[in-house]
Amino acid sequence: MPRYSSVFKDESKLDINYVPQHLLHRRLQLNLLNQFFRFAIENPGKMTQRALIIGKIGTGKTVLSQHFGLNLVKEAEERNINLKYVHVNCRECKGSLFMILQRTIMKFIPTFPRRGYSAEELLQALMQVLDEKDAYLILTLDELEALVRSEGSDPIYNLSRIQEDRLNAPKRLSLLCILRQPEYLDKLDPSTRSTLQRNIIQLKEYSESQLEDILNDRMKLAFREGTVPTQTRSLIAEMGYSEGGNARYAIELLWRAGKYADASEMREVSPECVRRAVVSVYPVVRRDMIPSFSLHEKLFLLGVARHFKQTDSAYMSMGEAEEAYALVCEEYGEKQRGHTQLWKYVKGLSVSGIIETMVSGVGQRGKTTLISLSRVPASDLEKELVKILIHGEGEARWQ
Ligand SMILES: Nc1ncnc2c1ncn2[C@@H]1O[C@H](COP(=O)(O)OP(=O)(O)OP(=O)(O)O)[C@@H](O)[C@H]1O
Ligand SMILES: [Mg+2]
Repeated sequence: MPRYSSVFKDESKLDINYVPQHLLHRRLQLNLLNQFFRFAIENPGKMTQRALIIGKIGTGKTVLSQHFGLNLVKEAEERNINLKYVHVNCRECKGSLFMILQRTIMKFIPTFPRRGYSAEELLQALMQVLDEKDAYLILTLDELEALVRSEGSDPIYNLSRIQEDRLNAPKRLSLLCILRQPEYLDKLDPSTRSTLQRNIIQLKEYSESQLEDILNDRMKLAFREGTVPTQTRSLIAEMGYSEGGNARYAIELLWRAGKYADASEMREVSPECVRRAVVSVYPVVRRDMIPSFSLHEKLFLLGVARHFKQTDSAYMSMGEAEEAYALVCEEYGEKQRGHTQLWKYVKGLSVSGIIETMVSGVGQRGKTTLISLSRVPASDLEKELVKILIHGEGEARWQ
C-alpha cells in the first residue's frame, strides 16, 4: 500500500476537453443564444441564423457554445426535429475550409471518402446530405481567426450564400462563429459582418468570485474531499483574475498544483504548490527581472519569500512583511529603510508582477494591505535572491 494517496479523485475532470455539467455565470448569454436560434426548433427550415460569440482567452466561449448546442439538440429531439450541432475548431483544422467541411460531413456519414472533392463540392455535398436526412445543422466555427487568416472572408461568405442560392428549399445551415480578437470582424465581407454584429454575444472576463465558483465546482469533481484548502482556491482565482479573468488558466493551475502536491506526497494542495505551478504553466516572471531591483527591494522581497516558505498561508500583512524585512536587514548588516520607503517598494514590486497586493476585505477590523506571492515559488525566489545578494549583480543565474 502506498503511504500517500493522490489528492485527485478524477483528474479527467480537469482535462482541457472536458465539458462541465454546470455552466456558471453565463445564464444571460446562454438565454441570448437560445433566442437567436429559437426558430431552429420552432420553425425549422424557415430561416437560418448567423451569430458571433466574442471574448478574451478563457472567458468560456467554447463551453458556452457547447452547452447551448447540447441543450438545443435535446429540445429538438423532444420535438422530433432532426437538428445537429457540430462544433469544429478552425485552428485544429489548420484554417482549412476543406477540413472543416470534411469533419462536418463525417458527423453525418462517418465513411465519407476523404479524397476527391474540392471545398466547394464538399459544401454542395453537405447540403445534399442535410436534404437527404431532412436534417438541420448549427455549425460552430470555433477560433475562427485561423480560418480567416488562412483563407480570408470567402469561406464564411460561401457558407452563408449557399442558403440564399437555394431559393425554395428548406433552410438548413446556420452558423455560430467564435472569435477572440474582434479586429478579425473587419476582415469579413460587409454583409456577413453586419449580420454578425447584430447577433453578437460578448463575454466579459470573469471576476475573482466567479472564478472561485467555477473552480469550486470543478474541484469537487476532480479532487478528494478536503484536499484543496479554501485559501488555495482563492489564490488560484486571484491569479486567474489577474491573467484577464481567464478560467482556462485557473483550471490548469489547479491541475498542476495538484500534480505538485502528489509529487511531493502532500495530503493537501497548498498555496506553495500553486506558486510552483504558476512558474511551469506561465513563466511570466522574467529571470532578468530580479537583478534589476534595488538592494532594499531585494531585501524586502527576500523577507516576503522567507515568510511564505515557512508558512502555508497565501497572504501576509504589511506588518508581517516589515518584520520579515527587518530580520533580513539584520542578517545582511543593512540599515532598515523607513515605512514610507517600504510602501514604495511594495508598489514597485507589485507593478513588476512579482508580488500582488490587495486590501483586506470586509469583516476584518481596520483595513490592511495584504501581500501575496503568486508567480514564483517562495523557495526558488529565496534561492535566487540569496545568490544575487551574495555574488552581486549579474553573476547569479536562475537555475
Ligand atoms: N461558466 C463556466 N462554468 C464552468 N466552467 C467554465 C465556465 N467558463 C469556462 N469554464 C471552463 O474553463 C475552461 C476554459 O473555458 P473555454 O475553453 O470555454 O474558454 P474559451 O473562451 O473558449 O478560451 P479560448 O479563448 O482559449 O478558446 C474550460 O475548462 C471550461 O470548461
Ligand atoms: Mg475556446
